[in-house]
Amino acid sequence: MRRVFVNRKGFEKLKKRQTWIYNLEIEREEDTKPGEIVRLFYKDKPLAFAFFNPKSKIRARVISFEADFDIDVYLEHAIDRAVKRREGLKEITDSLRLFHSDADGLSGLVVDMYGDNLVCSFDTAGVDRLKGRIVDILKRVLNPKGIFEKSNNIREKEGLKVEDALLFGDVDDEFIVVENGFRFITNLKKGQKTGFYLDQRKNRSIVGSLKVERVLDMFASSGGFGVYSKAKFVKFVEISKENCKLIEKNAEMNGLRNYEIVNYDAFDFLKDEKEDYDLIIIDPPAFAKNRNSVKGAMKGYKYLIANGIDRLKSGGYLAVFSCSFAVGFKELLDLCLSVSSEKSTELEVVEFLKQDIDHPYLVNIPTSLYLTGLLVRKFDIVQ
Ligand SMILES: C[S@@+](CC[C@H](N)C(=O)[O-])C[C@H]1O[C@@H](n2cnc3c(N)ncnc32)[C@H](O)[C@@H]1O
Repeated sequence: MRRVFVNRKGFEKLKKRQTWIYNLEIEREEDTKPGEIVRLFYKDKPLAFAFFNPKSKIRARVISFEADFDIDVYLEHAIDRAVKRREGLKEITDSLRLFHSDADGLSGLVVDMYGDNLVCSFDTAGVDRLKGRIVDILKRVLNPKGIFEKSNNIREKEGLKVEDALLFGDVDDEFIVVENGFRFITNLKKGQKTGFYLDQRKNRSIVGSLKVERVLDMFASSGGFGVYSKAKFVKFVEISKENCKLIEKNAEMNGLRNYEIVNYDAFDFLKDEKEDYDLIIIDPPAFAKNRNSVKGAMKGYKYLIANGIDRLKSGGYLAVFSCSFAVGFKELLDLCLSVSSEKSTELEVVEFLKQDIDHPYLVNIPTSLYLTGLLVRKFDIVQ
């Protein structure tokens, strides 16, 4: 096995069991093919086993900090552990994330289960090289009807082709997710993500259990939040026409009686909206893909929160989410603070929200907390 030597900065990261080592944290590397497994050293001290990719800025992605390592044994154990870890969730849903990349021990591997369909991504050269072996284990452990590869643009950063593929059997084009008794039509091959925003499941429950009459679900995607609310009136705002069709089907299927679907840009919609609501959901796509775009993202969030607060009745709730790693709890709190002081309104934090537990957040992997949110309640200030 080839050896790669990290510098002092890389060493400090590995001591904290952090798993991504960047090009600037490498001292010296032996000639290595993309995706090859290497042993990481600091000086002459062996520290970890990792996927290595000389084509990527993230040079090494740690798989194991143990002294002994056999990739075949490791793959079996990691997949088995990930599946067992999520057994409890099967009581409330037939669709969940079974494997979540670094947080389950294989950087780049995502496996989502939709009934007996599996939708996977292999986003690093490391897991791409192991695709055949991973598919064999998934077949044996889960006995799926089919396995589909949903390829993400992020693969380009690893020097890999972006191409969807059926890897085994047959996968449904359309699947009905049954979650907490609600039903959602999902396009497994053509939909956003692997079909459905599984990571928002718990937040749909929390936000959906509020007793409210008028709901505004913005960036609604398949309408999950609005449907869960069972409110007297729900307005959905969503820019994609295809998603608006899904929202309509989902609203009908779940017996929502009084609703409106606005196929429009949420920013423009807020400019003209005059109606007031008891609950507003703001769940935009990632605005800040990296640290450089944080400023622009913060401006976007500020606009959405400030205009959302204007449309909220006193005592009403606002749920705002960020799926950009660079905009987390602290940034969302700062924005709420500045909006509350500019508008002289009181904002109470009711809940800190995060991705559901099938997308684990490990403290040693900061990037594994990628979805954060706040549920705040607005009150007029007592005069
Ligand atoms: C993170 S997803 C929302 C997930 C959804 N809340 C759920 O739980 O299923 C973001 C959605 O916003 C939509 N979108 C993106 N830009 C938009 C815009 N400017 N106005 C309205 N919708 C937009 C996308 O099509 C996508 O469906």
